[in-house]
Amino acid sequence: MIVVFGSLNVDVMIAVDHLPLPGETVLGPGYQLTAGGKGANQALAAARAGGAVTMIGCVGGDPLAETALTDLRAAGVDLSHLTTVADPTGLAAICVDKLGENHVVVASGANRQTKASQLSDSLLGPKTLLVLQMEVPLTENWAIIRRAKVKGTRVLLNVAPAAPIPTDVLPLVDWLIVNENEARQIAASLGNPIDDARTAAKFIAGASKTTVIVTLGAAGAAAYLKDGSDLSVGALKIQPVDTVGAGDSFVGGFAAAIDRGKDLAEALRYASVGGALACLHPGAQPSLPLQAAIEARLADLPA
Ligand code: RIB
Repeated sequence: MIVVFGSLNVDVMIAVDHLPLPGETVLGPGYQLTAGGKGANQALAAARAGGAVTMIGCVGGDPLAETALTDLRAAGVDLSHLTTVADPTGLAAICVDKLGENHVVVASGANRQTKASQLSDSLLGPKTLLVLQMEVPLTENWAIIRRAKVKGTRVLLNVAPAAPIPTDVLPLVDWLIVNENEARQIAASLGNPIDDARTAAKFIAGASKTTVIVTLGAAGAAAYLKDGSDLSVGALKIQPVDTVGAGDSFVGGFAAAIDRGKDLAEALRYASVGGALACLHPGAQPSLPLQAAIEARLADLPA
């Protein structure tokens, strides 16, 4: 079973010719309202990839909550542990330019009320894979990781957006997933500023005694293990339309594969294909691929 502890948002997506510079106003032809939030995206990605998923988090009592939950509900994600709070549902303003580059600003709203106490002990244990990101109060993340580990729960932390991680929490994480910038930021927070993302990820793995996976865009992804070994996976050759949600698709696909008993190499291939397929359509949740779509492209990955 996969339990995702994290954020739920509604994304306001605006296509623009170019991303605004500081102080600049740019015009877009219209907007799309879609469900988002790194927690919800990863829960949906894991469910579409075949996982049994429970989502823990908060939404507001406003009409946007329904938008935030529609795709999760349709995919069969267990939403019975969500809490409705007085703050408004989280909202992300996302601009995407012609090249697929984006700017994202998140108004956290209800996500700021997410509490470790929402996750009951009955959902923790060796059969649970707990997936977290960094869009809810970090003290709640650290509290739940400490509690989860005592119960033997497997823990996957996607350090997005990056922030320092307490040194006692790092070794409790089984898989730490970062992008290139996040790898540099975490290495720097551990006192070792390193420019090269792979070197930074390797350093984090050694320092924290956990497996660190760094996503590398068109170059695929690499995993660094605590024993000093590493493995890499390539990426599908694609023409990206919009990379919003690609990292979440990678994490959700990885979680689904690990929870099905795949080994690290197989799970990385699964995640890499899932991440690439999410770049082919606009928006986060609308672009997350189904299990069959991922499996149909596994053979196309470079060796
Ligand atoms: O990772 C993409 C997500 O980041 C978006 O869906 C947005 O809501 C922000 O949380």
